[in-house]
Amino acid sequence: MSFAATVLTLYPEMFPGPLGISLAGRALAEGKWSLDAVQIRDFATDKHRSVDDTPAGGGAGMVMRADVLASALDATAARNPGVPVLTMTPRGSPLTQARVRNLAQGPGAIILCGRFEGIDQRLFDARRIEEVSIGDYILSGGEMAALTLLDACIRLLPGVMGAASSGDDESFETGLLEYPHYTRPQEWEGRTIPEVLRSGDHARIAAWRKREAEAITRLRRPDLWERHGGTPGRSPSGAR
Ligand code: ADE
Repeated sequence: MSFAATVLTLYPEMFPGPLGISLAGRALAEGKWSLDAVQIRDFATDKHRSVDDTPAGGGAGMVMRADVLASALDATAARNPGVPVLTMTPRGSPLTQARVRNLAQGPGAIILCGRFEGIDQRLFDARRIEEVSIGDYILSGGEMAALTLLDACIRLLPGVMGAASSGDDESFETGLLEYPHYTRPQEWEGRTIPEVLRSGDHARIAAWRKREAEAITRLRRPDLWERHGGTPGRSPSGAR
């Protein structure tokens, strides 16, 4: 069963966009995932095909209409029973690798992409929609965030990522940031590859990588470090 991605958007031409190339593009061509980009405007009912209106209570910008979005969502959900519905918004819960993994193991995702100032609150009160944020900054719409979410899911689908890496060593899978990588040439601008990586001693290399991952996590992401069980200034193993 392939992962069914449906995006509800005012800009369906933004899809698959970058997901049409490289790993995700090949997987799409191979049917490992499918994409349906639905034009929200097709569900408008007035002669101007309007999807938004001025905010109740006044203020700048426009608000997306609950009735039009509900029509688009209900039609989509009926075609995709059991598929979770998400909307991308800076006020959502922060996206985590755990949520990505969980979505990738499921039947797919229906993703509602907001534009303008936001979406009429009554849609969230009347439908089951998970609000997801990809970070503490504001995009001009949910489409880029949806592409990000889908990219994160697709690379985890069976047979998508090359045999070279299962991804198990990567940041957030281990709970740590990744250790530094090196490749040839052996010397570049007077800088050499750490000796341990040329030792062929796999146990020493693994220990070195673990120490490096711990050190960089402690330095750059004290929040992750604490969740990992480290105390400020010390690694969980007490190695540093
Ligand atoms: N839409 C606009 N900004 C966003 C963000 N930071 N995350 C998810 N969706 C968004």
